Amino acid sequence: MRAPLRVVLLLLLCVSTNARASSSDDDRARLVRAFQNALATHERGDASDALREYEAILADASARPHLSAKAEAILRTNAGGILYQRGNVDASRAHFKRATELDPSHAEARVNLANLLSEDVGSHEDALTHAREAVRLRPDHAKSHHLLGNVLQHLGQDIEAALRFKTAETLAAGDAAANAPAGIFQIRATEVGETKPWISPDGRELTVRTISVTPPVFRVEGFVTEREREAVIRKAAPEMRESRTVADGGKAGPTRRRKSETAWLVTHGDDALEALSTRATALLNLSADVAAAEERVQVLRYEKGGYFDVHHESTAFLRRFATVLYYLSGPGEGNGGHTAFPLGPHGEGTGEGTVVATAGNVTAACEGGVRAAPVPGDAIFFYNFGVNGRVDANAMHAACEVTGGTKWAANHWFNLAERRRRSPPPPPRDELR
Ligand SMILES: *[C@@H]1O[C@H](CO)[C@@H](O)[C@H](O)[C@H]1NC(C)=O
Ligand SMILES: *[C@@H]1O[C@H](CO)[C@@H](O)[C@H](O)[C@H]1NC(C)=O
Repeated sequence: MRAPLRVVLLLLLCVSTNARASSSDDDRARLVRAFQNALATHERGDASDALREYEAILADASARPHLSAKAEAILRTNAGGILYQRGNVDASRAHFKRATELDPSHAEARVNLANLLSEDVGSHEDALTHAREAVRLRPDHAKSHHLLGNVLQHLGQDIEAALRFKTAETLAAGDAAANAPAGIFQIRATEVGETKPWISPDGRELTVRTISVTPPVFRVEGFVTEREREAVIRKAAPEMRESRTVADGGKAGPTRRRKSETAWLVTHGDDALEALSTRATALLNLSADVAAAEERVQVLRYEKGGYFDVHHESTAFLRRFATVLYYLSGPGEGNGGHTAFPLGPHGEGTGEGTVVATAGNVTAACEGGVRAAPVPGDAIFFYNFGVNGRVDANAMHAACEVTGGTKWAANHWFNLAERRRRSPPPPPRDELR
């Protein structure tokens, strides 16, 4: 899992122990201003500027005497988060590590460090220490439990991992019910086959076609240029690993929910991916905070016999608002590999039955509903949340079996920011520990 890293916005309290000359007070006031500005820049989604501002504060000798350990931990956690999103693992690791030393109770730094150690460095034992501490510090934080589950899974401790995933889902469901973001902008689907012209930021005249109303799904022909498709595949090819899902415990075997290979690519600094990111953000008209919460791009390769059974993108604690799915290459006409929305195009199957009947049998899931053909260069997009702010169960979908050739595709997820608790955490739930 590549969790987008959260901007920590805590009130800055710089501790100035000794009252010194007034120039010192000026320094302190300047620091508070610079800190607030940097946080505001980050919150607006200007990651490059925010990173520069954080680093300037850390490098400023006159700020040092006024910077409390807790404040420096926040700076480093935020700077580390930006660097991590850019694929700079070493620099972000150093920031997260220092943040946990400066403020051992900084749960966010622990979560980020554990995630990085496990997913990017492969130091699962070290990751386990930090993940456990994060859960101890914030027992009500769904993502910390999920992360701990991932680390445990890497270490082969499947039983506790399953319990942690279950705990994460339970906590997240409670969060979602309590505090859903309503009224978020979405492109509306009114009629299957309806088309709207759209000019991309690079000046190409494209068409957005509605292929399903409930769930709303759209196709844009020729969204990805041939050069971009080739560049993404070239970059991903050496990184491909067997895909894992929570439900199958990451194991191979006949009952797997998916059969494919995955690579995660950092958008920042890659011409093709940055262009796609800009285009997708413009197409969906995403608000700055959602646009900034893009995940790394997940590239997928399905060989003959590959598939992904019916699933929902949003795990509630990883709130994937919109999915843009790029079809990059293959598998060729007549070779399957469609994306199926068994409940589309008018939400026919909403009454329990359909999903239950099709989950566990991708062939059945791909027989009804809407099937989007994987035409190379096209993109489809859909929303995993309704405008009411609730997870939209209609967005369940499957990757149908590839019966020949190789299918390359990529998921681009734009997420809702993690919710910040304003109320005190709920009382401990005995069954969860
Ligand atoms: C873009 O989103 C804003 C709200 O965030 C909305 O007011 C505006 O109409 C949208 N633009 C288009 C072209 O849909
Ligand atoms: C899966 O669904 C297909 C098509 O509906 C059906 O023919 C097949 O028997 C099902 N397989 C299992 C294992 O249920």
